[in-house]
Amino acid sequence: MYKGLLLVCVTAVACMTLFVACNLTPRAKKKSFKPLAYNVADKMADSVLTLMTQEEKIAYVGGDRNFFIRPIPRLHLKEVYMADATQGVHLRSKFRDVDLSKYQLEKSTAFPCPVLLASTWNKKLAYDYAQAVGEECRAGGVGILLGPGMNSYRQSQCGRNFEYFGEDPCLAAHMIENYVQGVQSTGTIATLKHFVANNTDYFRRKSNSIVDERSLHEIYLPAFKAGVDAGAKAVMTSYNLLNGEWCGESASVINDLLRKQLGYKWMVMTDWWSVSNGEKLAKSGQDLEMPYAVALKDAKQLIDSGKVKMDDIDRMAKSILRTYFAMKQNESIKDATLLQYFPDHERTALQTACEGIVLLKNEDNILPIKNSSQSILLTGDYVEQLAMGGGSAKVEGYNNKIMLDELKAQFGEQLAYVKSPTIDQIKAADIVLCNVGTSDSEGWDRPFALPSDQEQKALACVNNNPNTVVIVTSGSGIRMTDWSDKAKAILYAWYGGQTGNTALAEIISGKVNPSGKLPITIEKEFRDSPGYGYIPKGEALYSDWNNEAERQRSVYDVRYVEGVFTGYRWYESKNIDPLFPFGHGLSYTSFEYSDINVSTPTFSQADTVTVTFTLKNTGTIKGMEVAQLYIQDVECSVPRPVKELKGFEKVLLMPGLSTSVSIQLTKQDFSFWNLAIKSWTAEPGKFKIFIGASSTDIRLQSEIELQ
Ligand code: BGC
Repeated sequence: MYKGLLLVCVTAVACMTLFVACNLTPRAKKKSFKPLAYNVADKMADSVLTLMTQEEKIAYVGGDRNFFIRPIPRLHLKEVYMADATQGVHLRSKFRDVDLSKYQLEKSTAFPCPVLLASTWNKKLAYDYAQAVGEECRAGGVGILLGPGMNSYRQSQCGRNFEYFGEDPCLAAHMIENYVQGVQSTGTIATLKHFVANNTDYFRRKSNSIVDERSLHEIYLPAFKAGVDAGAKAVMTSYNLLNGEWCGESASVINDLLRKQLGYKWMVMTDWWSVSNGEKLAKSGQDLEMPYAVALKDAKQLIDSGKVKMDDIDRMAKSILRTYFAMKQNESIKDATLLQYFPDHERTALQTACEGIVLLKNEDNILPIKNSSQSILLTGDYVEQLAMGGGSAKVEGYNNKIMLDELKAQFGEQLAYVKSPTIDQIKAADIVLCNVGTSDSEGWDRPFALPSDQEQKALACVNNNPNTVVIVTSGSGIRMTDWSDKAKAILYAWYGGQTGNTALAEIISGKVNPSGKLPITIEKEFRDSPGYGYIPKGEALYSDWNNEAERQRSVYDVRYVEGVFTGYRWYESKNIDPLFPFGHGLSYTSFEYSDINVSTPTFSQADTVTVTFTLKNTGTIKGMEVAQLYIQDVECSVPRPVKELKGFEKVLLMPGLSTSVSIQLTKQDFSFWNLAIKSWTAEPGKFKIFIGASSTDIRLQSEIELQ
C-alpha cells in the first residue's frame, strides 16, 4: 500500500541531504542480496518435505534450543540462529543454560533506539541503519533478526515504545519499508513483530486488545503491510489476544488478516511462550512455535486422535523450508569480511542520533552554547551511565560514550559535573544542563510521570536557575508539565545508543544543527491520552518482570475506544492541547514555506496528484527540515480525523537557499477503511491539503476535489 506511494523529487541540493549534517560521507553502494522467487523456493521446500519423516516434520515446527530453527543433518538442513532485534544485535553467550557462544560476535553496535530512528524522519537513514544491523547479523552468522518491532504508540506508558516507530501509520510504514529492505539487502531475514495490536506490556500475556476492524486497517496494520510489501520473510505474532483470541494461534489473525488481507506468504513464528492450544495453532496459519514446542508438545497424540491433521504440520514445515531456501539459509550465513564495516556502522549510529534528537524548546536561543566564558553545571542520573532500553532489545554496544565525557570534550573546564548539586550550586551556574529520564523495558509498563527523585531534580534546577536546559533520556513520552514552562530549553535525547551522547554534545555546542521531529504526541497529563484507562480499575503498574503473577492472573480487556483517533488524531478531534505536538522539533535555523501548487484542482480516482512547494532556509546556518503533508477529508460519510499525515520529506538546505519539494499522492491517501465493502474507499468531494513544520504548525494550505 505504501510502496511507491510517495515519490519525492527535490533539487540536487536537497537530494544530497544528510551526510553533511554530521560531516559524514555517504556509504559505498553494496551488492544487494537477492532472495529466490517464491515458486523456486517452494519447489525446493517440496522436494525436502517429501524426504522428511513424520517425526522430523513434527520436530521441525517447534523451535530448538530457544533461538534456533532445528537442523536436520541427514537432509543437509542447517540450524538457523535468531537474534534480537531492532536497535542492533543482542549478543547472547547463554540463554537458559543453552550455549550460544558460537554466535557470539566480539561486539555489536548499540544503535539509537527505533523511536529515535523514527524521529529522524529520514527514510534513507532507516535503510542504512538496518543494513548495518543486517551486516552485523551476517558477521556473526545470525540468519534471522527478530525485528523490526513496529507496534503503534497508543499510550506513553508502554514499556516497549522505544522499540517501535511512534504513533503515526504513515511515518512508521515508510520507515519500516526501508528498514526491511536494508536488513534483507544483506541476506538477513527481517521479522515483523509483534502481530498485532500489542500496545502494552502490562501483564502482556493476559491483555485482550479489543480493536475494531477499521482501526486495525487504518492505524495498526499499515506498518506491517509496508513490511510485507517490502518483502519481509518472517512475522512474529504477539503475546496479547485480539478480540478474544490469542494472536499466535488465531486463524482470523494469521490466516485472514496477515496472509489473506495483507498478502503475506512466508514464515510466521510465535512470540516466546505465547501459545497453548496445539489444535488451534495448527489450523491458524502459524508455522513455528518458539522457543520450542509447548502447544504442540503432544503433536503425535493430537494427530493420532485426529485433532491435528498431518497436512497442517506439512504446511507449517513447508512454510519454514520455503523461507529458509528463499533466503539461502542453506548456504553459508557467516561472513567475517563484514567485520570491516564496524566503523561504518558506528558512523551510521552517530548520524542517526544527530538527526533524531529532538529540540523541543529553545527560548532566547540559549542553545547552542557558544560563549566559552559561561559556567555550565551538569547533573543527572544518566550522565555517567548510558541510558538504554532493556529486555530482549537491549544491545550493550562498545566504545560507549557517556554524557559526561562527551560534554567535557566539547566544553572542557567550562563544564562541571555535580551528581547531587546544592541549591547554591544550581544558582551559581550560568547554565544548568539537567538530565532526567526513565529506564524503559519489555515486560512491564512504566508511569508517564518521572520517578519522584528525578522530578524533584528537574524542579530544583528550573526553579533555581532560569537558564536550565533539560535533557530527557527516555524511550517514550514523559510528564514534563510541572517544569517545561520554566525550562529554557528541552532536548529529547531518547536512548541514543553508543554514540548518542556524542551527537547530544555536538548539538549542545552547535557543531550539529538538530533536525529531529517528534514521532509521537507528548501529552500534558496521562489522563489526556487516548490510551488512558487501559489498566483495570484498582490495579497498579509494577516495575519488574512478574511472570508468576502474570501466570496467575486472568485475561483483562483493553478497549481501543478511541478507534482511529489515536495520537494527534485524538488530541485534535477532542480539542486537547498536548504539551508538544506530533511532528514538532526545532532547528537552529529557520525555514520558510511558500508557493504551494497542486498539480490538478480535480483528481479522478485513477490519477496521482503532485503537491509542490518551496522551502527556504532563511537563517544563517545550514539545516534540515522535515516538511510534512497532511490531508483532511472535508466531508465524509464516516467520522475521520481532522487531518492525517500522508507524506513527508527531509531536506537539507544551505543558508539562504531554497528548493522545490514535491510529494505525490494517490487514491489510497484519500481513503478510509470501508466496513461495508471490507476495503478502502476514497469518497468523492473536497479534501484540504496542509503542508507544515509539525501537525500544529501548518504553513501552507490548498484544496483538491476528488471525483
Ligand atoms: C519478546 C520478543 C523477542 C523474544 C526473543 C520475547 O519476550 O517479546 O520481542 O524477540 O522474546 O527474545
